[in-house]
Amino acid sequence: MGASLCAPKKKKTQVGASWVGNESENPFDVSLTKKDRTCLRETFQRLEEPKEVVGLIFVDIVNDVEPDLKKVFGVDRAPRPVMLKMPKFGGHVARFTDLLDQLTSMLGYTENLTGAWQLVRKTGRSHVRQGFLELNQNQLEKNYFEVVLNVFIDRFIPYLTGEQQLPKAAGSENDQKKVRFANNYQPQQIQDIWKKFFTILAAQMTDSFELERAKQRNAQSQKALAPHQHIEQSERKKKRIQEKQSEIENTASSHEPKEQEQMFEDPF
Ligand code: HEM
Repeated sequence: MGASLCAPKKKKTQVGASWVGNESENPFDVSLTKKDRTCLRETFQRLEEPKEVVGLIFVDIVNDVEPDLKKVFGVDRAPRPVMLKMPKFGGHVARFTDLLDQLTSMLGYTENLTGAWQLVRKTGRSHVRQGFLELNQNQLEKNYFEVVLNVFIDRFIPYLTGEQQLPKAAGSENDQKKVRFANNYQPQQIQDIWKKFFTILAAQMTDSFELERAKQRNAQSQKALAPHQHIEQSERKKKRIQEKQSEIENTASSHEPKEQEQMFEDPF
């Protein structure tokens, strides 16, 4: 008997609709240790205002790094100081922050690594809906996920190590207080772990985006290449529905009590 027949079966996990992966390939498991994942959660929780930090970085991205994204986020006419108040842009900052919160919690607290992987892949796929990315995202030339997340590697991590702090509003309570983090992680360690994390995010989002876009384009071209098939298919479906409907009606009427035959008196 071949050895492969005796080998234990590897657990297969459905990771989103467009991709089936193996649990042992989960990049959050492969590239990060349990301690790394705890570090992600604990350091993220150090941030008092994570949304503020994400917002500051996104404002820089759309103004200084990728001005093409201004229009996508509806801030092409908004002056810099009010950009975060614009619904689409402010909404994206909020969702991006929530995603970091959810992922770090799944990885470093509930240890739901499969869920974290699925969530990242789903987020990548959902971006195919954004017409700008559908048209312009190109993993070999301009990979917008990588561009954004590389800026995060440079700009977000210093807030986690404590090297950088948000400017405090003048006169606020914490004005004088310097934030001191527990010294359980070295800055270099935090830097390395978060860099790995953002790199996984970029790779997984890019890959799931590409697969989903290819799937949708393929479906579109199938439709365009064989329109008669689609018409035939929908005709057949219509006919089936009609048949089913009349079947139901017939069955219903055969169960109805027959109207009693009326006997009329013979007039003659
Ligand atoms: C929506 C995260 C990059 C444009 C979202 C959502 C999340 C998210 C969590 C909401 C849920 C969903 O649709 O799945 C991220 C992350 C990125 C990223 C982690 C990593 C780089 C981008 C880029 C663009 C973009 C490069 C540029 C086109 C949008 C838009 C929405 C969206 C327009 C819908 C916003 C709305 O209408 O409320 N993103 N995103 N995202 N994303 Fe991203």
